[in-house]
Amino acid sequence: MARSVWDLLLNWWENIISPGSSATKLLGFAFMEKKPSHHDEILKHIYDGHDMKNIVVLRHCTVPNSLNDEQSNHIQLKQHTEREVEPEGSKMEIDLVGKTVENKQIILKGYTDGSPLETDMELKVGDGLKLEAPKGSNAIVVKNLYLSCDPYMRGRMRDFHGSYLPPFSPGSAIEGFGVSKVVDSDDPNLKRGDLVSGFTNWEEYSIIHKTKTGQLRKIEQDDGIPLSYHVGLLGMPGFTAYVGFYEVCGPKKGDYVYVSAASGAVGQLVGQLAKLHGCYVVGSAGTSKKVELLKNKLGFDEAFNYKQELDLEAALMRYFPQGIDIYFDNVGGAMLDAALANMRIHGRVAVCGMVSQTNRTDTQTFRNMFSVISKRVTIKGFLQSDFVHLYPRFLEDIKGWYKQGKIVYLEDMNDGLETAPAAFVGLFSGKNVGKQVICVASELPGKGWSLTTQEIDANGGQHRSNQQRQV
Ligand SMILES: NC(=O)c1ccc[n+]([C@@H]2O[C@H](COP(=O)([O-])OP(=O)(O)OC[C@H]3O[C@@H](n4cnc5c(N)ncnc54)[C@H](OP(=O)(O)O)[C@@H]3O)[C@@H](O)[C@H]2O)c1
Repeated sequence: MARSVWDLLLNWWENIISPGSSATKLLGFAFMEKKPSHHDEILKHIYDGHDMKNIVVLRHCTVPNSLNDEQSNHIQLKQHTEREVEPEGSKMEIDLVGKTVENKQIILKGYTDGSPLETDMELKVGDGLKLEAPKGSNAIVVKNLYLSCDPYMRGRMRDFHGSYLPPFSPGSAIEGFGVSKVVDSDDPNLKRGDLVSGFTNWEEYSIIHKTKTGQLRKIEQDDGIPLSYHVGLLGMPGFTAYVGFYEVCGPKKGDYVYVSAASGAVGQLVGQLAKLHGCYVVGSAGTSKKVELLKNKLGFDEAFNYKQELDLEAALMRYFPQGIDIYFDNVGGAMLDAALANMRIHGRVAVCGMVSQTNRTDTQTFRNMFSVISKRVTIKGFLQSDFVHLYPRFLEDIKGWYKQGKIVYLEDMNDGLETAPAAFVGLFSGKNVGKQVICVASELPGKGWSLTTQEIDANGGQHRSNQQRQV
């Protein structure tokens, strides 16, 4: 598994390795990829011999999002005159309590009906947030680490109150799933330093009130599983795939299974679960790169680029000459219609999402509804939230399969809160490759470290920003 340079630094810290060690080389390797001059600068500090101090200096490097040549010129090394020794446990959170922070936020400017645009949202620096949970409030204050971009959020940008979730409030930070660290707590069930997943806001720090704290899950950290997976594989999308496949599709060994938006947060897991179950699985996605990933990384039997097919019905007939037993529908619209024409007798369609319809205002017509009668097809819509009682079983199964190497998970990690609007909008044109996550701040396990810089994968010196990551 790829480890970040920062993990290695921590390890290095703990073992007090002298200058010139292999960790030094590794650090240089990561930074050197784009800009050897910065590598030299950083190494010089390390070779000064003040190891502890200089690791702290590195921790405060401000590294721009993607480190292209132009951006690399903006790397700043913030020198710290005093030696900082990183404390045990959650000292960082203790230090923050009571402080007032600027708190950058992504707000929704106003309701929108068309395709979502980056300009529908904006980065705002808050008026100042005191990091303190008021006594008697049962609230918690959290530092947000990872935020999730999900297609359903688009529906909350409309002035429409008839859905299963209310619309966002214009002028306020966007609400969404995230992984956060408790900075202060008035909730007896949560303490400083705890990690939680659930609803938070698109901002650096959030106050989560009593009504919402009950919906948070405390994360039992597991070193073998990246923390960000709690908004993906182990979070809402992973759970959707699990309950959608096992509870809604009624799978049997040998079934012919078709998954649309198959490389995304939900689809990639559905396909892998279907393979584990002994099914034949075909996925569709919108680029040839995604098609390759489906076949070569995710173990689908076949995959195709639906954007290159003029006739979707004919394409499905080509991939399923014997017909489809299960269609896991993430997109709706014309693809759903085409699948209906190709279903087998007693086929099942799990209607999970309609991402192709999200921005449509005209009426969708179906040509193949008669198949539902002639083939006795069951079409069932579902919401993952109807199955929360199955969450413990899901967690145990998925963690186990992941650790045994039976499943993998693709993440598309953007670094920096300010990248969130573009990442979100990108979901609707298929820019994401795998689960779209925003890294707001990353944490090193057990140390309460908060890096102001992006993590850089030690694996080949690749930057995580906008990179699909398979762990
Ligand atoms: N029912 C529930 O409880 C529940 C829970 C979670 C998610 N969902 C739904 O499940 C679906 C997948 O969600 P996700 O989180 O896994 O998203 P995702 O697949 O990670 O991202 C969205 C993907 O949809 C595809 N897409 C975008 N516009 C499209 C269009 N017009 N036609 C066809 N494909 C299009 C794109 O992939 P391509 O490159 O392949 O086009 C894009 O990458 C969504 O519809 C979502 O609303 C439902």
